Amino acid sequence: MSDRTANIGVVGLAVMGANLARNLASREGNTVAVLNRSRGRTDALVSEHPEAGFVPAYSYEEFAASLAKPRTAIIMVQAGAATDATIDALVEVFEPGDIIVDGGNAYFPDTIRRERAVRETGINFVGAGISGGEEGALNGPSIMPGGSDESWVTLGPILKSIAAVAEGEPCVTHVGHDGAGHFVKMVHNGIEYADMQLIAEAYDLIRRGTGKSPAEIAEIFAEWNRGELESYLIEITAEVLRQNDAATGEPLVDVILDQAGAKGTGAWTVQTALSLGVPVSGIAEATFARSLSSHPEQREAARDLPGPSTATPVDDEIAFVEDVRQALYASKIVAYSQGFDEIRAGAAEYGWNIDLGAISKIWRGGCIIRAQFLNRIAEAYAEQPELPLLMAAPYFADALGRGQEAWRRVVVHATNAGIPAPAFSSSLAYYDGLRAERLPAALVQGQRDFFGAHTYRRVDRAGSFHTLWSGDR
Ligand code: ATR
Repeated sequence: MSDRTANIGVVGLAVMGANLARNLASREGNTVAVLNRSRGRTDALVSEHPEAGFVPAYSYEEFAASLAKPRTAIIMVQAGAATDATIDALVEVFEPGDIIVDGGNAYFPDTIRRERAVRETGINFVGAGISGGEEGALNGPSIMPGGSDESWVTLGPILKSIAAVAEGEPCVTHVGHDGAGHFVKMVHNGIEYADMQLIAEAYDLIRRGTGKSPAEIAEIFAEWNRGELESYLIEITAEVLRQNDAATGEPLVDVILDQAGAKGTGAWTVQTALSLGVPVSGIAEATFARSLSSHPEQREAARDLPGPSTATPVDDEIAFVEDVRQALYASKIVAYSQGFDEIRAGAAEYGWNIDLGAISKIWRGGCIIRAQFLNRIAEAYAEQPELPLLMAAPYFADALGRGQEAWRRVVVHATNAGIPAPAFSSSLAYYDGLRAERLPAALVQGQRDFFGAHTYRRVDRAGSFHTLWSGDR
């Protein structure tokens, strides 16, 4: 057993866990205990990084003994059964007041369940979303911890020491109790799906509309990255489009199979939104677009279905590219507005006190959706913390007002040319749906009352009404 005392421990030393442990060890004042189910990973990490001064442990007892109280351990193992097994093992050796952090990608209802179970023992359980992949874990992720206020007292300074820094502020905040952190991380991923799909649609529209090469389109994205769209995703899109395949010399994007994978966080975001009754249509379309791409047999079956009978040429390429840029920005505003709406609704449903402005700030660094744009969101919530709809805040309303004509032209072009732009068009339909003075929901209510006597409310009187339809028998 080691005679050194660590202030923080990491359990699970695959890539994410090892990088997080190295990040922790590199910060002044931290001594890091490390434990892995099989000892090989522990030995490899300790021997490859002598500078880190890790305190290796080979059993949970040894791990607990090497930690100063309150003991604080971050679990970085596979989500699901492995996480439950690790929590159970830590609960056996930890004491009341100690802190167990799950830094994996847990589904937030699991985190709520685990928090409740662990709390019974007097031990604190914190579900923390950690974004930024391997690179972020090593150099500074965006961290979204939930859990109790008590645990935040100990955990806050440690997490602040390893988080990314954006404009002088660490990208971590105590999101809210129990599952709040993993909930917010889930929605972050949903927004990421939408952001990526919108960029992909913009690329496709420009490529098919103008015939520009991927390398030429890379220059357009690089240019966009100097304006209001500036973000990590736009930056890497330019890099991806610039890349040629080493084997064939072709643009790499043309060699990559066009079937998008997913690990399920987008689907969770949409499933949760459906049960909360929050219309995250842009995120849903982005998630479905990945599913659609991954059905080659259906795509093959659909190949001969007719498309538009006439060509839709782009007359002015420069104007078209600018329209696409504006449509992208407008749709992006909608995607974020929908994501924040889901967080607002989740907070109301689960009793979390979530500061939406603080969330936008901790996404400015370390994570995949980091962007200048998030400052505008923070400003909107600073001005009006109870903002009912992000896209209606003055800055965004103004941007949508400036971009909406271009957005419509792009969606019309996509429709006429037979180019799928599900995220662009559903975002526009959401925008028009919310701003409509009257919606055909009135007709839907009439239909519901007709066939099921579900009743309706009236515009001119309070109460519930049922009509004796002539079809009634
Ligand atoms: P990555 O995708 O980076 O490889 P992962 O699959 O999310 O990481 O997690 C792998 C980690 O979970 C490993 O540390 C693994 O331990 P081993 O190195 O012994 O395989 C750990 N892990 C998986 N199942 C586990 C379990 N039931 N109990 C404890 N740790 C487990």
